[in-house]
Amino acid sequence: MSAVQPRFQHTGIAFGCDYNPEQWSPEVWDEDIRLMSEAGVDLVAINIFGWSHLEPRAGEFEFGALADIIERLHRAGIRINLGTGTASAPAWLVRRHPEILPMAEDGTRRYQGGRQAWCPSSPEFRSAALRLVREVAERFGDHPALALWHVSNELGCHNALCFCPNSDAAFRYWLRRRYGNIGALNAAWGTAFWSQTYQEWSEIDTPRLTVSTRNPGQMLDFRRFSSDELLAHYRSEAEVIRSYSDAPITTNFMLTSHIDGLDYWSWADDMDVIANDHYLDHRLSDPTVELAFAADLTRGISGNEPWLLMEHSVGAVNWQPINLAKAAGQMTRNSLTHVARGADAVCFFQWRASVQGSEKYHSAMLPHAGTNAASWREVCELGEIVGSLSEVAGTRVESEVALVFSWEAWWATEEESRPSHALGYLDQVHAAYGALYALGLTVDVVAPDADFTRYKLVVAPGLHLVREQHARSLTDWVFAGGTALITFYSGTVDEDDRVWAGGYGGPFREALGVHVEEFAPVAAGTVLRLSTGATARLWSERSTATTARVEATFIDGPARDAPAITSNAWGAGQAWYLSTLLDHSDYTDLLATVSGAAGVHSAVPFRGGEGQLELVRRRGEAHSYVFIINHADAAATVEVSGLEMITGVNVQNQWQVPAGAVRVVREALA
Ligand code: GLA
Repeated sequence: MSAVQPRFQHTGIAFGCDYNPEQWSPEVWDEDIRLMSEAGVDLVAINIFGWSHLEPRAGEFEFGALADIIERLHRAGIRINLGTGTASAPAWLVRRHPEILPMAEDGTRRYQGGRQAWCPSSPEFRSAALRLVREVAERFGDHPALALWHVSNELGCHNALCFCPNSDAAFRYWLRRRYGNIGALNAAWGTAFWSQTYQEWSEIDTPRLTVSTRNPGQMLDFRRFSSDELLAHYRSEAEVIRSYSDAPITTNFMLTSHIDGLDYWSWADDMDVIANDHYLDHRLSDPTVELAFAADLTRGISGNEPWLLMEHSVGAVNWQPINLAKAAGQMTRNSLTHVARGADAVCFFQWRASVQGSEKYHSAMLPHAGTNAASWREVCELGEIVGSLSEVAGTRVESEVALVFSWEAWWATEEESRPSHALGYLDQVHAAYGALYALGLTVDVVAPDADFTRYKLVVAPGLHLVREQHARSLTDWVFAGGTALITFYSGTVDEDDRVWAGGYGGPFREALGVHVEEFAPVAAGTVLRLSTGATARLWSERSTATTARVEATFIDGPARDAPAITSNAWGAGQAWYLSTLLDHSDYTDLLATVSGAAGVHSAVPFRGGEGQLELVRRRGEAHSYVFIINHADAAATVEVSGLEMITGVNVQNQWQVPAGAVRVVREALA
């Protein structure tokens, strides 16, 4: 098999879906395939939950139905994104090996009957899963319709953290490799506190529930371990596939609002192509902004290479407290946001709406109502739009701004004991990103160890845990002439969750020119007023400027008279610090000032649609493509010239994008 990493290759932007033919009879399959062709579907994910069909009894394999559906799709010219089928263990396997079932933090088991009921460290699960993968890969590994391998499904969606005895043993093994000796572990976890010192590795367990708060160092390492365990599972399936197939291999990530189980920065190198599942989360204040953030983060994980939107929804999902339908045109805007931000595939969960099972009220490309539905017509129109944007595939997104994102900082910020439980990491990230979005700026979301040289502005919101070398590379980049905005609670602890003493902000302190003495979070509902007239919430700090210039002070609250916003000349650059959570319009004003000073511009000039207009440029070899997505109720004016690819009209200079519309302008490169 090939030594070079296979690439996902497709003509144009792929348009597709998850398909669960197991739920339907062969007559329905034929109708499905006919309608898929009508909608323009050319990539279908199958066999995601296939195990109990493929191996109904231990070691007895039945591949007839899967082979049949693959041939039917192939004959229709539809390519296959082939699941390994291991996402959910069949009942017989769990009966034979009940220790496969995951254990919750309170020591109780979770049972068969839902999905993903397996412990990531279970040797029995692993060997049974790999036996199935071998059978699947051997049969279909060189099938001409095979476009992509889809390992398991959303690894860690429900079982990211397991506290069973198998996990205990695997955690100890992982810790021995990390620390080498128990003294190093005791030092890292600060076990001198509360008489927690360990003498033997065998004394250590996964952090099951305690009567008090748990050891934060142990919790943090458990999160790292748990991410690594699932990555190890991915690798083991991929290794088996690789001995039978040259097709690219991936799994669908969950870069979507609340899911925090896996440190995807450490997963990226193992994927032949990055794929993501994204669902609008209506529990958030602005789900559309979060969608754009998630797409930019996916591109970041992909190192600015094109990536695949493996799942999103046509309309409502079934798993939020109130599952909102999408408005007319919203599904198209959502899909094109992903494409604008680097996706080379637009796929949905799922093709045909189920009539049974937990997800029967989840929207689908083909709804319960059938083809006589506005959502079906919009799906078909979207298929045409995606087809008309074929030449965009393979191009790269341009950005002058980076936002630093870290799972380790997320995990450490949200540990059980913290200055304010109202402080959430993702909220801080979304607030900063939302202000940049409101300015129409394109943002690359990058890892703390990123190379910042291609950017004009770097924003690091709430980067609570930071490794010294990563903080240094950011401040060195500022020193060389960059502009950074760092926000409160950043640089508070090192990689072991140990506080940088001597003034909060630790490794950022000198570059920021601020001495932070004490955190002063405020009660819910408290509004803090700043000397500039801006308002803020959540947090303040008792600090003094050492070398920084004070841009705003608190005029009330527990940090009255202390600086709220500062800027510091650091070498040839500028380091800004924000020690509170500004309200959205004031945050946007601050970022307008900071980005203006850094010389950052939106992809094209615009007027109207403020705060609800997305402007992103993807650059190819002969052309670049400007995406304009207008979420506002009114038309917006943009300044860009070229062929508008959705309407087929030539546009020039200043022209209007109607309310709710998506436009893509092809510009000639000089
Ligand atoms: C995830 C899963 C799918 C389905 C959808 C529903 O993305 O991968 O199998 O459950 O959620 O939103």
